[in-house]
Order: sequence, then structure tokens, then C-alpha cells
Amino acid sequence: MTDTQPTTTSGGTAADRGPSLENLLHETRAFPPSPEFAAQANAQASLYDEARADRLEFWARQARELVTWKTPFTQTLDWSEAPVAKWFADGTLNAAYNAVDRHVEAGHGDRVALYFEGEPGDTRTVTYADLQREVVRAANALAALGVGKGDRVVIYMPMLVESVVAMLACARLGAPHSVVFGGFSADALRSRIADAKATLVITADGGYRRGAPSALKPAVDEALSGAGASSVRHVLVVRRTGQDVEWTEGRDVWWHEAVEAADTFHEPVWVGAEHPLYILYTSGTTGKPKGILHTTGGYLTQTAYTHKNVFDLKPETDVYWCTADIGWVTGHSYVVYGPLVNGATQVLYEGTPDTPHRGRWWELVEKYKVSILYTAPTAIRTCMKWGEDVPAGFDLSSLRVLGSVGEPINPEAWMWYRRVIGGDRTPIVDTWWQTETGAIMISPLPGVTAAKPGSAQVPLPGVAADVVDDEARPVPDGGGGYLVLTEPWPSMLRGIWGDLERFKDTYWSRFPGLYFAGDGAKKDEDGDIWLLGRVDDVMNVSGHRLSTTEIESALVSHDIVAEAAVVGAADDTTGQAVVAFVILRGEHAERAGTPDGAHEVQQELRNHVAKEIGPIAKPRRILVVPELPKTRSGKIMRRLLRDVAENRTVGDATTLADSSVMELIAAGLSTNRSADD
Ligand code: PRX
Repeated sequence: MTDTQPTTTSGGTAADRGPSLENLLHETRAFPPSPEFAAQANAQASLYDEARADRLEFWARQARELVTWKTPFTQTLDWSEAPVAKWFADGTLNAAYNAVDRHVEAGHGDRVALYFEGEPGDTRTVTYADLQREVVRAANALAALGVGKGDRVVIYMPMLVESVVAMLACARLGAPHSVVFGGFSADALRSRIADAKATLVITADGGYRRGAPSALKPAVDEALSGAGASSVRHVLVVRRTGQDVEWTEGRDVWWHEAVEAADTFHEPVWVGAEHPLYILYTSGTTGKPKGILHTTGGYLTQTAYTHKNVFDLKPETDVYWCTADIGWVTGHSYVVYGPLVNGATQVLYEGTPDTPHRGRWWELVEKYKVSILYTAPTAIRTCMKWGEDVPAGFDLSSLRVLGSVGEPINPEAWMWYRRVIGGDRTPIVDTWWQTETGAIMISPLPGVTAAKPGSAQVPLPGVAADVVDDEARPVPDGGGGYLVLTEPWPSMLRGIWGDLERFKDTYWSRFPGLYFAGDGAKKDEDGDIWLLGRVDDVMNVSGHRLSTTEIESALVSHDIVAEAAVVGAADDTTGQAVVAFVILRGEHAERAGTPDGAHEVQQELRNHVAKEIGPIAKPRRILVVPELPKTRSGKIMRRLLRDVAENRTVGDATTLADSSVMELIAAGLSTNRSADD
């Protein structure tokens, strides 16, 4: 979620976590819905029956009821070009019209869409009518800068009202946006701009973070100064902090000037249901981020459907708050599209949870009477660490549904969330999904499901998931294996931008005909699903996805590094932490031989990773080693390195090409350890 939030007791891959897995599966507590909640819930058990009876008709009904179509669709699913799905393909619509205009037309123009709270305490209340005016003018401003249907726009922003407006303005024009998280570096930004061949970048001078202005525009200037980003014609800059910015005449344009000069009428660009809505880059198992492509009609349908049923949204009375940054998929689906398509009122907060004090979130819940809160386990565990007297200082009685996303939530954190934040009263929905799935796939339904702490439990009505073994056979209840999705779903990714083969290879080749999510999972005796973390080289740090290979590439791009291996080690706060093992070149290895020298090298390399990828990818620990454990075929045995990183006895090393390597590593670590920061 935000880049600052801390935690888990459950990191690592399925294989690492045998003992905790056993604990999980002995979890016997269950929390059935209260009769009062069940009676008023949007979702009823009949939803499962309806979806089972006719899955496609079920989705068609959701699409008709939750989304407004310019031209109604007549076809629900076309799977003839699998694995590229077409949902509702002959319908036409516009995402921004669905998120904004139609609510105003329905007489809800005065309803608050966004309660914006800046980190310094400045506030802004934006109604749906206000949002419509802003999006219309921004769309005209973008059009005046040459943005048209199909053009890609990169958005690199803090959490501001303008960030939401920018995304919707793109959608209004049929111009796919690609939001790049503001914590990514200039290099990461450049590679995403280049891959998407974006023509416009929307950014801000900066945003407020931990009580101080934090600049963004310099990273854009740097990204555009290098080779590869020549597609960009203009940079639109929101003034947020007022800090000085470099200005490239002819290229840079102030947002407020462009918007003020823009016309107040704009006809939405009606697009086919399969028109690209956005590209969002995410880490995979190789060094090159994948541009996950989402299209319009199916995506809006499933984000609206899940938002309505999983959070039990009542748009007239609820105040909803999802703490995710718009730079991640959760911000796309559950800050922008799902809630706005449903006409929700929500809180949008710019800053960190502990600025100016550790009760800031709870103060906001009290102030805005937040009734639905959606956040990440890492944030919950951090709050646990800060102590329950912090939230106890605020009135949290407005809360009625709590959600969790991004990583497995350990039962202890789940129980704390329910008791301390939810007053022992609120249902908790542990929602499993991915950037690729676009919307929630596995989750309890509040009012229907008896919730089990730590389990995402059941595929939503309309979603088909299973846990399979190596041979793609469904495991029996009580068994473990790989999580797969067995039928196409409306908000599924339509590909990896510009790389159809990689799309097929990454998700569809491991188990032919099934979507392989990359997660390990277990079915308990009731058939409920427990997620166990990634089984590939993807790490999950504070709910953020990072690739081991990407960080390794960043490390070896530094002159002094000869070889690098990165692992995600279990961490009580951040779920997993990045631990890097590096072999240094020549004299640098000697330099790292003293505690001071090792410290210096570690700092240099951590800063280098921050520069290459972003501060979120900085290794927590860097261990300088003389060798890396490799098999005879040259594959690094990360399992053994994880044992070292987690201070465990090193496991079976018999397949190593050179069995003395682990001893060498252990011998060298005393110097490194003392130098860890
Ligand atoms: O490993 C799973 C974990 O997060 C991965 C997806 O990461 P990303 O695409 O960045 O999207 C995060 C927000 C949807 C998954 O492959 N994950 C996400 N939600 C859960 C989860 N693991 C366990 N339980 C969850 N509820």
C-alpha cells in the first residue's frame, strides 16, 4: 500500500513456512456474520447459486446493472483467442462517464466523492459535480496537448485530487494511463515511459511526506534527459508544494494554467469494451517489469461488483477509505474505478500514517466517520507494534467493515484488527487478488461467510479458483499446492504490453489452460483457501511486489559488484525483507573486509539500488560473500541463502557444485553482521 507501512510473521515462500502453515491450519476460530449485518447485507448466499447456475449470465447481469453502456453488449465472453479474453466486446462505454457524469445526471451531484486530506492538514471536499467539472476541463487540457484516443499518458504523482482527476481525464479521452508509483526512481520511470511510448507525463512539483515537501519533478526531468523517453512531448505539472522546479520551455506546462484555460464541455470518447483503460507495470521474475494491460468493460464490471459486495457498500451512507497509493493496482481498482463507479464517498489521504503522530489514521476515521476501511496487513502489524492505546484515543465506532489486501494476514494481526480497530464487531474481509486479476477474486462475503482469521477462504461468486499439484490435479481438502484460476473472469489482464509471448509463457504455460497465479496455497478440511505467499522469485515487501532478479540486475550494474543474489527473508514487520548477497570485484572485496569498509560498501550499494529502482527496493541487509551457492548447472540456490538470511541452520546442500561454499559464506559473515544497519 503506501511505501512506508511496515509487516508479517508469515513471509517467505510456501516451502519456507512449514511450521506457521501448521499453525494456520489448526486455526479453529470462526466468526459468523451477525444477524443484523446479514439482514442488511448487499450480498446474499443466493449469489453463489446464481453464479453457479449460469456463470456467464451472472456476469452479464452484473455488467448491465453496475455499468452504464452507450451501446449495450450482446456478447458476454469470447474466449476463442484464449488466453486473451474479450468480455462484452460489442458494447461501448466510457469509464470516466461511469465513474462521474452518470452520478451527476442521476441527481447525486452534491454527494461528496472525495474528502481530501493533505499531510499538512489542508483539506478539500470534492462533490461528484465538482469532480465532473475538473475531469471535463482536464480532458480538454490533455486534448489541447495532443492526447487522443489510444495515446499513452504516464502519471507520476503523490496522492492528490488531481491524481484521480488525471486518471479519469485520460479515461475520458480513451487514452490509456500508466501510473508509476511516486516512490520509483528516475530510471524506473524512464524505462516505463519508454516501454509504453508515452506522449505526456503528468506529475507534480512534489508532495508532502513525513512533514516535509518531497520533490517529484526532478525525477521526471532526469528520466526525460536520458535516451529512451523521446516519445514525450509535454509534461503537465501540478503545483502542490510550491517548491522551485526546473522548467523546460515548450515542454513543461502548469496543470492549473492548462485546466483554467480549458473548455467546460467535453463529450466523452465512447470506446469499445475491450479498449485499453490502463497499463500498470509490476515486477515479475525477470529484471524487466511487465506492463499489465487492462481494458474497459470487464474491468469496470468486476471492480464495481466486488466493491459493492465485498465491502457491502451503501453509497448513500458509507464513508469508504482505502489507504493504497494510486501507484499500485489497489489504488486503481479500489480508490479510483470501483468506488467511483459505485458512487461512493471516500477519503483520500496524501501522507504517511505517523505524521504528525501515530494516531493520524484513526483521527481521520473519527473525523470523517469512516465506515469501511481497506488496508494492508503490513500497516496493521505496524499499528500493533505502536500499541493499542494509540487507536484507543479515537472514536472508531463508525467502522462497520474492515478489509485486508496485499499479503497473507497472520491470524494474530487479523484478531487484533477485528478487536482493536473493529471493536469486536466488524466483519473482516481478507481479499486475495493481483495486479493481473484487476479485481478481488477470493474473499469472504460479509453477511454470508463465517470468517476464519488468516484465510481468504472462497472464490467470489462468478470466480473459479482451485489449488492444484505439480500435475495440475486439484488437491483434496487438507492438501497444498499452487493456486490457479480455472475460468476467465471479466477484469483479467488482457496481456503484457507489447509482449504476447511473455503473457502466455508467464501465466498460462505452467499448467496448460489454467492461469497460474504464482502463489502457493492450501485447502483446509472445509475446502477454504489459505494463501501461503509466492512460489516464484517475486518478493512481497510491505505488500509491494519486488522481483529478486530486478534487484540483482540493479546490484550488478554497479561497478564494484561481480555477482549478486537476492532473497526475501521473513520479517516481522514488512512480511519479507530484501536481503542481498554480493561478491565484490578485486580490491573492493578487501575494502569490505573491515567493519567500516563493509558498512561503506553496503551504503553505496543500497543507495545504488534506490537510484536504479526506488527506495522501496533498497536491501535491508547486504552481505558481502566470497562465493554464492550454485548447483552444477549454475543455478543459485536461494533456499540456502534464505536459511542464512533468516538465521536458520542451513538446509540440504548436497546438490551444490562446491559443498564448501556455505562454510565460506558463514565464515565471512561475522564482518558483515556487525556492519548491518
Ligand atoms: O502473493 C499474493 C499477494 O500479493 C500478490 C499480488 O501482488 P500485487 O499484484 O502487487 O497486488 C497486490 C494487491 C492486490 C499475490 O500474488 N496477495 C495479495 N493479496 C493477498 C495476497 N496474499 C495473501 N492474501 C491476500 N489477501
